[in-house]
Parts: sequence; structure tokens; C-alpha cells
Amino acid sequence: MIDVKNITKIYDPDANAFLALDGVSFKIEDGEFVAIMGPSGSGKSTLMHILGALDTPTTGTYFLDGKDVSSLTDDELADIRRDKIGFVFQSFNLLPRSTVLRNVMLPLIYSGVGEEERDRRAREALHASGLDETHFTHLSNQLSGGQIQRVAISRALVNNPSLILADEPTGNLDSKTGEIVLGTFQKLNKELGRTIILITHEPDVAEHADRIIVIRDGKITEDRKNHKKKDAVLELAKINSLKQ
Ligand SMILES: Nc1ncnc2c1ncn2[C@@H]1O[C@H](COP(=O)(O)OP(=O)(O)OP(=O)(O)O)[C@@H](O)[C@H]1O
Ligand SMILES: [Mg+2]
Repeated sequence: MIDVKNITKIYDPDANAFLALDGVSFKIEDGEFVAIMGPSGSGKSTLMHILGALDTPTTGTYFLDGKDVSSLTDDELADIRRDKIGFVFQSFNLLPRSTVLRNVMLPLIYSGVGEEERDRRAREALHASGLDETHFTHLSNQLSGGQIQRVAISRALVNNPSLILADEPTGNLDSKTGEIVLGTFQKLNKELGRTIILITHEPDVAEHADRIIVIRDGKITEDRKNHKKKDAVLELAKINSLKQ
């Protein structure tokens, strides 16, 4: 489904040109669960924006489901982002003065889903990411970091996207909440066959994926199958038993 060939991304090409991606190539098939891991500034978010058709590479090609993304019109790109891709942004991008439910419903409003159905699906997505129902009518600026993270994940799931792109979705979470979030992704991947691309700088988080791609200074330095995949449910049980 994803085929990137030799892509580069140069920020600010005229003034202080900065090469954020330097000849990146890989393929990701439907139904894979891949972690993209690398230190801060290595180009992870830059790559995620390109994979999510939010930005275009400076050179190289990106085929998504057999289509050359650079050849699509803005409307076609917007349709793909709306129907196919669920984003969990590093900065979450929730609307601060809207309730949790409204934040999660937003993608459905853009897709023209009716009000009752929107409410039902938003609640379902919030339950799936484990947010307590008492928070559904809170404004997003009344939530803790972990709760905001779950709302952002629910919003990414509400449209049933085939591809989920999550940028540091467990950053700032305690290990227990982190395992719950990773468990949600593992379940979506295993039971519903969703393709998951999880971006992280933490090896421990990356170990929950089936394949790990390592990026450094804008270059892929490693791309391997993960034979010792961590199961979030087991990890959570370990954490709980340590606490008793
Ligand atoms: N809009 C921009 N203009 C200029 N440089 C940018 C821009 N966005 C990112 N960069 C630079 O590109 C490099 C890669 O940034 P990117 O955000 O992709 O890193 P990252 O791996 O996601 O880091 P982090 O783990 O801190 O989120 C960094 O050196 C950053 O300063
Ligand atoms: Mg980033």
C-alpha cells in the first residue's frame, strides 16, 4: 500500500537549506504494524507528514495504493486524508473550547455523517481507547495529558481508517497508560487488519510492532522484523502485578 522511493525533503531550500530526509525508501504492505524509530530531529514527523499526504517530498516518489501522491489534486489529497488515514499528531491538535465528543466527531462532520450516527461512533471510538465516560462532555482543556492522548487516538479511529499514523502517541504517558494505548493499536492491527505506523523515539515502544525501521539524520539505518514483539496485554499485567 505504501511505496516510497528515494525521497528527500529539503526545508527552506533558498535560505538555510536543511536536508531533513535524505533518500528514504521502503514499502509497507496492508495490515502491517511498523514502528519508525529515531532520535529527536531525525525526520520522523517530516516523514509522517509525507506518508499522510499532508506534505510532499522535495524529490523522489510516494505511491499510496498504487497512486503517485504528487500527481493528485488538493481535493483528491483531502479525500484520501479524510477517508483512508487516521492521524494522531504529536501535538494532538484538539480544539480547546470544544467538548471531547465534539473533537472526536469532527472528522465525521467533514464526511457528512448524520448527527445521531456521529454521536454513536464517537462514543464507540472513545470507549475503544479507554476514556472514562465521565470525561465525554469535558472541554479538552480540562483533561490530563493521558486523557488528551486518548481523545486524539479516538479521533483518529472514528472514521475507521485503513491506515493509522501515530506520532509519539505514548510520549508523556505513564507506562501503564502507554501499554493501554499500545494495546489499542495492537488490537486494531490484529483483529481489524488496520495498517499501523507508530512513530517513537523509545525502543521499548517500538518493540510492540512487528517491524522496526530506524531513521537517523534523515536516513534509514535499519529495517528489520521484530522477533521479540511485546504484547501490551502481557506488559500491562506485569506492571499491575509489580504494583501489588
Ligand atoms: N518547517 C520546517 N522548517 C525548517 N526545518 C524544519 C521544519 N520542520 C522540521 N524541520 C527540521 O527538520 C528536522 C527533522 O524534524 P522532525 O520534526 O521531522 O524531527 P522528529 O524526528 O519528528 O523529531 P522529534 O522526535 O523531536 O519530534 C529537524 O532538524 C527540524 O529542525
Ligand atoms: Mg516529531
